[in-house]
Amino acid sequence: MKATFTDLSLPSSGVVVVLVADERTLSPSAEQVDKALDGALAKAMRSSRFKGKAGETLDIVAPRGSDYDRIILAGVGKSKDIKAMSVRNLGGGLVAALNAAAARKATVMLDPLDGLAELGAAAAARVGQGAMLRAYRFDKYRTKEKEEQKPTLQELVIACENPSGAKREFDSLEKIVDGVNYTRDLVSEPANIIYPETLAAAGEALKSLGVEVEVLGEKEMEKLGMGSLLGVGQGSARESKLLVMQWKGGAKNDPPVAFVGKGVTFDTGGISIKPAQGMEDMKWDMGGAGVVIGLMKALAGRKAKANVVCVAGLVENMPSSTAQRPGDIVTSMSGQTIEVINTDAEGRLVLADALWYTQDRFKPRFMIDLATLTGAIIIALGHEHAGLFSNNDELAQRLDAAGAAVGEKLWRLPLGDAYDKQINTDSADMKNVGGRDAGSITAAQFLQRFVNDLPWAHLDIAGVTWSKKDTAITPKGGTGFGVQLLDHLVAEHYES
Ligand code: BES
Ligand code: MN
Ligand code: ZN
Repeated sequence: MKATFTDLSLPSSGVVVVLVADERTLSPSAEQVDKALDGALAKAMRSSRFKGKAGETLDIVAPRGSDYDRIILAGVGKSKDIKAMSVRNLGGGLVAALNAAAARKATVMLDPLDGLAELGAAAAARVGQGAMLRAYRFDKYRTKEKEEQKPTLQELVIACENPSGAKREFDSLEKIVDGVNYTRDLVSEPANIIYPETLAAAGEALKSLGVEVEVLGEKEMEKLGMGSLLGVGQGSARESKLLVMQWKGGAKNDPPVAFVGKGVTFDTGGISIKPAQGMEDMKWDMGGAGVVIGLMKALAGRKAKANVVCVAGLVENMPSSTAQRPGDIVTSMSGQTIEVINTDAEGRLVLADALWYTQDRFKPRFMIDLATLTGAIIIALGHEHAGLFSNNDELAQRLDAAGAAVGEKLWRLPLGDAYDKQINTDSADMKNVGGRDAGSITAAQFLQRFVNDLPWAHLDIAGVTWSKKDTAITPKGGTGFGVQLLDHLVAEHYES
């Protein structure tokens, strides 16, 4: 699907979408159509529940006395309350409605209602962005799907006041969509296709955008002393990798900002094996790595004026005769020793070395890690918020605001010495589990021991990386949660 922009002249045929505000208040274009069709819109509204609330649509098929195939009324709610976010949802909702209507091409008349006028060209650009996000589909393995079962919409024409301005804004928003959809692809791929080497290759593909990419193998990581990460991958036939990507869009001597992702390409649990039920979900245990790769694609795509480092620890957690055992003690790159009580608490072991490496090599301004780290975060927050943990209030506050701005919500949970004590052990410097209580917090405490006091935040995205239902701009499946959030954080605070 593509989005294009044109001026506000009403087509006289095809599929047209017109806006209706709360209490069935017709927009000027809707008014115009209604007049031309002898009040057909008003009549259709009267004979339905449609009130013009945000998200509502009413589909009028082949209205008599016109050449229109369809006129779709799209509710926008109280027009003065329209925000950039809700306009995106409007775009997403339209894609769903138009696909259900089997439309191939449609024009949406984006009349400058109160809130839309305030947003200017950004409004139309955001409609386009929402539409593109919702139009995403991972269907490459559905070889028997018939043409008529597939979504039909090829082009959404957005008629607005300033089409060239909208197009200009859309160009960079579209790069962000490309990043989100790249992440969604990676998260959706099964683990026989995406394993450490191939996930690293997905990072290497970004070289064409000017991203500098290095991939470290097991030999190199052994030299660096990454016993914690390597222990997780040692039961797998697939070689563990560390993916290091740099985007140098900022001033030469500006220290970078750093993002670190958990990339467990499949998490069986290892010797502490998981139950069979639902284990297939663990193909998306590389969600954090998927986000940092998609984020790089977005930043490089829109040529962000910032220095950014993204690192992903890539391993497969398998049980085998070479697998790590419960009770094993490993030495991390930081020199700290870890008793592996449960081989299923592997994400923190991977991140321990990835975080230490990142701060040691790049001396970044801060590090933010993303990980599908704990089932406990789903118990606490469900699928509405990702967990946020930080040793730095300013960073936490900026993340929280960025999440609210793009609709990827975070909820901060505490850290503290008493929680930290839960991961002490007699046999080594720490153990990799802290017991049932506060499972997401003790996991974060573990990570904090590897950030060397740098400003740091941890996003536990286990509940938000995959969605079982469609939402306005996110079809069910891999969500790409985190890409827009971190892109926004960089744009707001770290671009020159
Ligand atoms: N990858 C899982 C966490 C997870 C669970 C992500 C469900 C998405 C959905 C992680 O590696 C894990 O297994 N965590 C354990 C930790 C426990 C052994 C301390 C968990 O949450 O059960
Ligand atoms: Mn696990
Ligand atoms: Zn895991």
